[in-house]
Amino acid sequence: MAVRSRGTKLLQTFLPRCLAPPPGRRHLSSPAWSSQLASLPPRDLYRLSVTDPDQFWGSAAAERLRWVEPFQRVRDCELSSGRISWFLGGKLNVSVNCLDVHVEKHPDRVALIWERDEPGTEVKVSYRQLLEMTCRLANTLKSHGIHKGDRVAIYMPVSPLAVAAMLACARIGAVHTVVFAGFSSEALAGRIQDAQCKAVVTCNQSVRGGRLIDLKATVDAAVKSCPSVQHVFVSQRTDNPTVMDRPRDVQLEEAMSPQSSICPPETLDSEDLLFLLYTSGSTGQPKGIVHTQAGYLLYTALTHQFVFDYREGDVFGCVADIGWITGHSYVVYGPLCNGATTVLFESTPVYPDPGRYWETVQRLGITQFYGAPTALRLLLKYDESWVKKYDRSSLRTLGSVGEPINHEAWHWFHSVVGEGRCPLVDTWWQTETGGICIAPHPADEGAPIIPAMAMRPFFGIQPVLMSEEGEPVQGGDVGGALCISQAWPGMARTIYRDHQRFVDAYFSAYPGYYFTGDGAYRSAEGYYQITGRMDDVINVSGHRLGTAEIEDALDEHPSVPETAVIGVPHHIKGEVPFAFVVLKEEQQEEPDAILTELRNLVSTKIAKYAVPQHFLVVKRLPKTRSGKIMRRILRKVATEMTDDLGDISTLDDPSVVKEIVHAYEQYRKQPHQRKEE
Ligand code: PRX
Repeated sequence: MAVRSRGTKLLQTFLPRCLAPPPGRRHLSSPAWSSQLASLPPRDLYRLSVTDPDQFWGSAAAERLRWVEPFQRVRDCELSSGRISWFLGGKLNVSVNCLDVHVEKHPDRVALIWERDEPGTEVKVSYRQLLEMTCRLANTLKSHGIHKGDRVAIYMPVSPLAVAAMLACARIGAVHTVVFAGFSSEALAGRIQDAQCKAVVTCNQSVRGGRLIDLKATVDAAVKSCPSVQHVFVSQRTDNPTVMDRPRDVQLEEAMSPQSSICPPETLDSEDLLFLLYTSGSTGQPKGIVHTQAGYLLYTALTHQFVFDYREGDVFGCVADIGWITGHSYVVYGPLCNGATTVLFESTPVYPDPGRYWETVQRLGITQFYGAPTALRLLLKYDESWVKKYDRSSLRTLGSVGEPINHEAWHWFHSVVGEGRCPLVDTWWQTETGGICIAPHPADEGAPIIPAMAMRPFFGIQPVLMSEEGEPVQGGDVGGALCISQAWPGMARTIYRDHQRFVDAYFSAYPGYYFTGDGAYRSAEGYYQITGRMDDVINVSGHRLGTAEIEDALDEHPSVPETAVIGVPHHIKGEVPFAFVVLKEEQQEEPDAILTELRNLVSTKIAKYAVPQHFLVVKRLPKTRSGKIMRRILRKVATEMTDDLGDISTLDDPSVVKEIVHAYEQYRKQPHQRKEE
């Protein structure tokens, strides 16, 4: 209570002084933000958020979140050392904010619509039911020895139980790490080992596009090398039996049913860990990105409301998987904190046919549709009738995420799907940023939206473009390395058990700034456009991958002394990996069998989507005198831009370029190569 009055007081002190809502400005209807802040135009809110972050975020946190104990200080952040703390001293529980507060007001409101693989079989879960499910699951975890601070891996497709598993961890203060259910057993094992997980929650099988995938078998293989795992909780997604290794394995629904549907929430500090999410960087080992409680939740709730113009009664449709940050922030935490109805999409864009998304929109009355450009590029190849035969009049906002959206996909989404009447927001952000950082503001009436451009920083985000010399670039019509100059509540706090890596990766290239790894352009009007990664991270169908991860997998083959992987453009997937492979002398004549083994290696070590689409066997790689592989040259060769190779004088032996160009030309002549495109 103390905090509520503190927040209101803060608002009263600053609002009349600095900002009066202009006449005629539309009121932003928000279920959870009842103060005067809600009536301010987003532009003025933005100004306030960057000129006085303590006031802005302090008021927002006090108003929007339910606290057990008030926070004493809004922030304590020093970007140069990666020290980031928000709402210090505050105590709360995230699951209470996502569930209990809504159950008190509207227990029967639908929290989740589980759009199962088979169309027309959706399942609705009310806030009351989700709270009960979460409590039962939380009590199950507790009765199996899982407590505050313990790590729990969740290896499940999107489903109400997966959401309940995340919230159950949040309820008891355990730290979840959701692993995308397409990752291989080795990739899963690596994450479990790094996080030292005490338990895994999984399903017997997953169902996607009519296909069954044995998730439990993958977990069994993974946990063989994970001694920290004491229990594997197995939910029964299909009727098919699965081998259970009891007492380690626990049938989840059976274990939950005798448990109480009440679980007192653990009181957590604002900066206690909420979850780890592993993501790729420019070195081989994935990074366990750490997000904490209050700042993350507040940031996802505000972005969810403002970027998508979310209003009470909306049916929010983000079709991302919960294995990625988009699923965490805009399927689960942001929408549930706002008391929204959120869709869990289990299927694929083309199952049973390319009308699936739009048939779902019609059947569920979806108001916001948020998806990845890669799916749009796939769908626009089909006849427009697949879209037009379904009623999309419920749609109000469209969103795109995860990779650059090309103009063709943007216009198709906007004009064909949205009939030209729905604002389409290209949202830029990252696993590390927790929530959307740059996106148009459709809630700001009259603000322009430029096609295929993320455009405008969200509240509290101050983008800076850096020159090659490491100086901020001023003015418009300029490009540079995209940095952010001030901390915001949703940003990652560290890399699990490796703070130095966190500092090195994000705060040392431009001391005092968060470096995103992306390049960007700023237009004359001050709008931002993302130009792509500046490091060795690629984006395959919206899935982030480090080329070094793929190289590490390939290099394990005994006949392969060296490889270099780069990303090359692909008309649907955005990018695909292209592997340059050096084989041992004796293997060079008959490489096909080895290439098959290499494909299998990547698939078992990482995931199927990481398997390079192209393999080119070369005698050697282009290297500088100090032994560094010049990937820039490989990119030029693979994108057929050899007229513009740039400076090759630093190469140890420039004749290697000719060799590689020749090998590439031979490769291009192969018939299977042409077919793949
Ligand atoms: O390169 C940017 C690209 O995806 C990277 C972040 O990937 P991940 O952490 O997996 O998060 C994806 C979902 C938020 C970024 O560094 N990216 C993300 N959104 C966009 C984008 N590139 C261009 N335009 C975007 N809207």
